[in-house]
Amino acid sequence: TAEDLKDILEFTVSLARKAGSIIREGSEAIQSASQQDGVNEKKNAIDLVTEYDVKVEEFVQNTLKSKYPTFKFIGEESYSAGHRPPLTDDPTFCVDPIDGTTNFVHGFPFVCISLGLIYKRRPVLGVIYNPMLDQLYTGVTGQGSFLIRGPNSEPVKLPLASPPKPLHSLSQALIAVEWGHDRQEPNISAKSTSFRRLVGDPSKGVPGGKMAHALRSVGSAALNISLVAQGGLDLYWEIGCYPWDVCAGMVVAEEAGCIFTGSHEIFKKQSLEDFGDITEEILTGRKYVVVRAIGDVGEKRK
Ligand code: IPD
Repeated sequence: TAEDLKDILEFTVSLARKAGSIIREGSEAIQSASQQDGVNEKKNAIDLVTEYDVKVEEFVQNTLKSKYPTFKFIGEESYSAGHRPPLTDDPTFCVDPIDGTTNFVHGFPFVCISLGLIYKRRPVLGVIYNPMLDQLYTGVTGQGSFLIRGPNSEPVKLPLASPPKPLHSLSQALIAVEWGHDRQEPNISAKSTSFRRLVGDPSKGVPGGKMAHALRSVGSAALNISLVAQGGLDLYWEIGCYPWDVCAGMVVAEEAGCIFTGSHEIFKKQSLEDFGDITEEILTGRKYVVVRAIGDVGEKRK
């Protein structure tokens, strides 16, 4: 019920703040040369994972388990380690303990915990907390999404400028894209082609160029999505996210009036082939999140 979700929100917000303290301390510790041994290569040089991902996930999972013993749990690290519960209608937490792991290792302050709740196979609650900047985004289905900046401030309803201004053309759009972890063909070519088309100027020899205002890469899917919800970005597009990257953000974005579309099995949305299709919708003032996930929850990176 709505009341249940309010209680869960209160609990998960406090949990996300506690997890955030571990993340902040970890990032500071890892900056010192003595901690460099804690950084391991996972899949390639870009896909860094540290002991902190596991530490934060274990803390979050154990805390959720004692409070909600019947709820299921899907987390990035336990999933990688082989704990892969199938998605059912049961309430299921879907958590990325540290989204923006590469940023975390480098001390680039766009790092967050992304904590979502799925019920009857739909994301219904999202909490995204960036402990580096002390910014907390929340979303609950039917109850809106909010941003809380700093420790004692009041929640501000998203989007910050309401209603968002329609754009006169794509050339006014600030767009987030990500290179992601998968640097293989054909993925890297598909991304490069899309990025080139987005910013390219046809009069300067880029066929099909759409002249978007600029591209950004924050390095965290959940924070890109939150920034669209906030109104700072007009569009976020990525190929290759995992459920824990987008579950919480989906609620935050949709409750802020954004359109969230992707091809992930869980989210049962249409996929869009390229940016051309969304140009007109951008003009209406609705912000857009397009995430094309690779496979489903059963296809986590090796
Ligand atoms: C990744 C980040 C990155 C995005 C990838 C995600 P991680 O999550 O959100 O920005 O491009 O698709 O997997 O590995 O930092 O938790």
